[in-house]
Amino acid sequence: MSKLTVKDIPVEGKNVFVRVDFNVPLSLEGKVADDTKIRASLPTLSYLLEKGSKLIIASHLGRPKGQVVEELRMGPVAEKLSQLLGRKVFKSDTVVGAEVERAVQALKPGEVLLLENIRFEPGEEKNDPEFAKALSKPADIYVNDAFGTAHRAHASTNGIARFLPAVAGLLMEKEIMYLNESKENPLLPLVVILGGKKVADKIGVIRHFINHADSLLLGGAMANTFLKARGYALGSSFYEEDKLDVAGEILEEADSSRAKLYLPLDVVVTEELRAQSTFKVVKAEEIPERWSAVDIGPETVDAYKEVIKRAKMILWNGPLGAYEFPPFHKGTEMIASAIADADAETIVGGGDIVAALKELGFSDKVTHLSTGGGAILDFWGGKKLPGLAALQEKDDKRR
Ligand code: 3PG
Repeated sequence: MSKLTVKDIPVEGKNVFVRVDFNVPLSLEGKVADDTKIRASLPTLSYLLEKGSKLIIASHLGRPKGQVVEELRMGPVAEKLSQLLGRKVFKSDTVVGAEVERAVQALKPGEVLLLENIRFEPGEEKNDPEFAKALSKPADIYVNDAFGTAHRAHASTNGIARFLPAVAGLLMEKEIMYLNESKENPLLPLVVILGGKKVADKIGVIRHFINHADSLLLGGAMANTFLKARGYALGSSFYEEDKLDVAGEILEEADSSRAKLYLPLDVVVTEELRAQSTFKVVKAEEIPERWSAVDIGPETVDAYKEVIKRAKMILWNGPLGAYEFPPFHKGTEMIASAIADADAETIVGGGDIVAALKELGFSDKVTHLSTGGGAILDFWGGKKLPGLAALQEKDDKRR
């Protein structure tokens, strides 16, 4: 990676502002339901703590849109972080101002202060320079370890970097290393699997990989839009009317592109999307009226498995069916199992597919399980990540 990391600069005894992505799911009881993202930041936090830095940690939680939302306070996150770090985590009820400054002054080397939800502040998402400056005030160094939020140009992910020496954390470095490899120097044959609900999020990714990968395997509800663009009747299946044109263009482009584009050959359909509802398997062009496609069918699974078997690198974003409603997890499960057996480097990213692989017991069978959702899609789709762009280059003298 061309960016400086936390290991490239002196951090001993410094006040270090670390932006992390602790946007974790909470249970109904208000506890952290999945601590993967918190665990993923531990290498950076532990490194800094061992060096005797004083940590000011900031994250968003949910989308409170510049207002205080009681259920989105960082209390449960502070508790989990303290448990994982094995040390006390002081928690501030605010994000900037005198209270934070006093709390930072009271920190000793190796101590941690977690700020309140940064998105309670209207200046955060606006990337307000005054707010970014206020955030930077108690710190000597800025570290961005929030890869999952690197696609947002917010005050704590981008603006603050103008006021402090700004470097990447170790999670950010690791994520970018895998992503650079997948984009700049992929092992071939490269197979890209895309699922999930919406084509809209993935147009850039499809457009990039249709000319750079060897195979593109589509599933999930987003594949329906392509089936519709091909002129198939979809019954009551979800599809995006306003994306039919772009899907049609991509299908046309695919006739002469490097990558072969695969659509479902058969689908599992149901009249009611709930667990254990009645279903049948039909050809993709024969979805009956009032029935909806909710998973890829067995013929599709076999065809996709053949492609996966030959891959040397596999990138995957988005589940291939409504995996939350068994048995419509089967397509995703069988493809996950094929990937686990493949002799290939596998990079999986996106909240839903990562959750699906964890639930189905495959999360330790892939090379890299990313903490990014939108960030990965923007990166693969060729967009600049503002959270990364703001950090200093290795040859930058501003230190
Ligand atoms: C995520 O969970 O994908 C990141 O934390 C980004 O969250 P956002 O989409 O609300 O910016």
